[in-house]
Amino acid sequence: MALKRLDKLIALNCNVSRKEARSLIKNGSVTVNGQRMLRAEELIDTESDDVSVEGYDFTLKEHIYIMLNKPQGVISATEDPNKKTVIDIIPDDLKRRSLFPCGRLDRDTTGLLVITDDGALCHKIMSPAHHVYKTYEATLSFAIDENDIAKLESGITLGDGTECLPAIVECIDINGFPGARIKIREGKYHQVKRMFVALGNNVEQLRRISIGALKLDEGLEEGECRELSDKELELIFKDE
Ligand code: URA
Repeated sequence: MALKRLDKLIALNCNVSRKEARSLIKNGSVTVNGQRMLRAEELIDTESDDVSVEGYDFTLKEHIYIMLNKPQGVISATEDPNKKTVIDIIPDDLKRRSLFPCGRLDRDTTGLLVITDDGALCHKIMSPAHHVYKTYEATLSFAIDENDIAKLESGITLGDGTECLPAIVECIDINGFPGARIKIREGKYHQVKRMFVALGNNVEQLRRISIGALKLDEGLEEGECRELSDKELELIFKDE
């Protein structure tokens, strides 16, 4: 059983402030299991109670988790005065007030980004202590060899002296261009690009294809997103 305050759930699920949620409750717009509910502090069981607001039924969830296939040209931020953000491209039916991207992909990086309003989950994904590997496909200027792979897999030192944790690396072909599939479990600034620069190479294009065992849904075009299921969320914390 997951008990949550009615006003909090209405605010989260209807994309309104707590104050607006309380006035919806006060003016009699909210019913719980068919009964009009006038108490904002009423505790609701999100798994079994039926809540409706102004006649519309809601499946009440405390948090939302979205998989976005990030396109190039948008920034991994919640707002920006000049540039389009990943939050700007979330459709209205999935939008909530407190959404944020879970970690950052560079403006020109594409692929899997989780957008949520759950800070605890985001911390768990991002913290190296939780060992969640993120897998990227990098199109490179030159093919890598065994020697490069050995350096990346033993923990490469970046140009500024920053030491990286060991990565897991495979040499691949990406549409006829040299490439690498690389798994890392930390998120230093421009990390993958700088790891290849440290080898005298250059990343031409970068795409994230998975987080843990959660794979980017190839049915999503760049710029498209959809909600994650509970099962998919669990995959984040499993090994591929
Ligand atoms: N590493 C990078 O260099 N860029 C990204 O966007 C993600 C990882």
